[in-house]
Amino acid sequence: KIYPVILSGGSGTRLWPLSRAALPKQLISVVGQRTMLQDTVTRVNNWPQVMPPLFVCGNDHRFMVAEQMREIGVKPLGIMLEPVGKNTAPAVAAAAHLLAKRDPDAVMLVLPADHVINDVEAFRDAVSRASEAVAGGALATFGILPSTPETGYGYIRRGKQVDGVGDAFVVDKFVEKPDLATAKAFLEEGSYSWNSGMFLFKATDYLEELNTHRPDIAAPVEQAVAKGYEDLDFCRLDQASFEATPSESIDYAVMEKTRKAVVVLADIGWSDVGSWSALWAVQESDGNGNVSRGDVLLQDVSNTLVRAESRMVAALGVEDLIIVETDDAVLVAHKDKVQDVKKIVDSLKSSG
Ligand code: GDD
Ligand code: MG
Repeated sequence: KIYPVILSGGSGTRLWPLSRAALPKQLISVVGQRTMLQDTVTRVNNWPQVMPPLFVCGNDHRFMVAEQMREIGVKPLGIMLEPVGKNTAPAVAAAAHLLAKRDPDAVMLVLPADHVINDVEAFRDAVSRASEAVAGGALATFGILPSTPETGYGYIRRGKQVDGVGDAFVVDKFVEKPDLATAKAFLEEGSYSWNSGMFLFKATDYLEELNTHRPDIAAPVEQAVAKGYEDLDFCRLDQASFEATPSESIDYAVMEKTRKAVVVLADIGWSDVGSWSALWAVQESDGNGNVSRGDVLLQDVSNTLVRAESRMVAALGVEDLIIVETDDAVLVAHKDKVQDVKKIVDSLKSSG
């Protein structure tokens, strides 16, 4: 059986002012009607062999996650609460312990709660190919064919084809977040994919690899689960043990190091919606390259993204802008500066 494990711990600072620490992008509707979290769950709902989702999120978001599932009629397998965020390696380990206890053969489908996937059928096919590789003990990641030298992604070099599984390759090399020159070289070389950040593996296989490569993470997380307790609908990790865990991503802690990694190519219309320009790319634009949402009026405007959340926004005679209006903040930025939105958030934080 496959257990979706939904990671919902990020804050999505580059989508400010839409996304905030208190209300990160996965908990709001960014494209379409439902929130990104609801879309993530709906995508895998009612697949054969797939169980209800297990969430891993921060304490502060627990009621929002529960409420959003109630809205779409999904009863979670559980909601695990982290007393503090320690990045994805510990979060996935905590979920793995819980699942392995319940079902020693549990296969986990790790899904970030803040990705867009436009071709759900192709995704389902990729998961089914991955599960064949996973049955043989592999840790599978889903690889996306890269289009730009993005430095915010992990890069995977394809090795030899996995026997009997379509478009699946042994991972020859996994490089998390290379610098720009390296990313450019990878793109040119042609045998690299982006790591989508979604994974499929047996819970016990992940724990074994974590134990081998990062016992300093594996041990305190195991304690945090063993000493944790259930409270109403929530599964709480022991605070002292979890706080003692080093903070590390699954990519650095396990995927860069393991020899059991397999990459399954997935042409699924994927985007991690990491920035305003990424969001732009997954939305339909008008004849002048504009993307708009909400009460928006454009005259003589091109290549501009406009989003009106609570008031009307009109733009006249401008190009290459990002304009985002919310009820307490407005962003106006040149489209080439989208990565720097993070800096605005940082300076807001430091000025209190
Ligand atoms: N529960 C929980 N706790 N979730 C977390 C935590 C945490 O402490 N930290 C991050 N997450 C969630 C985020 O909400 C997001 O959904 C997912 O885990 C990945 O975290 P990011 O912080 O967004 O990672 P990234 O985008 O920098 O890099 C990862 O994703 C890329 C693709 O989007 C890596 O896996 C890269 O290799 C990959 O290319
Ligand atoms: Mg991300």
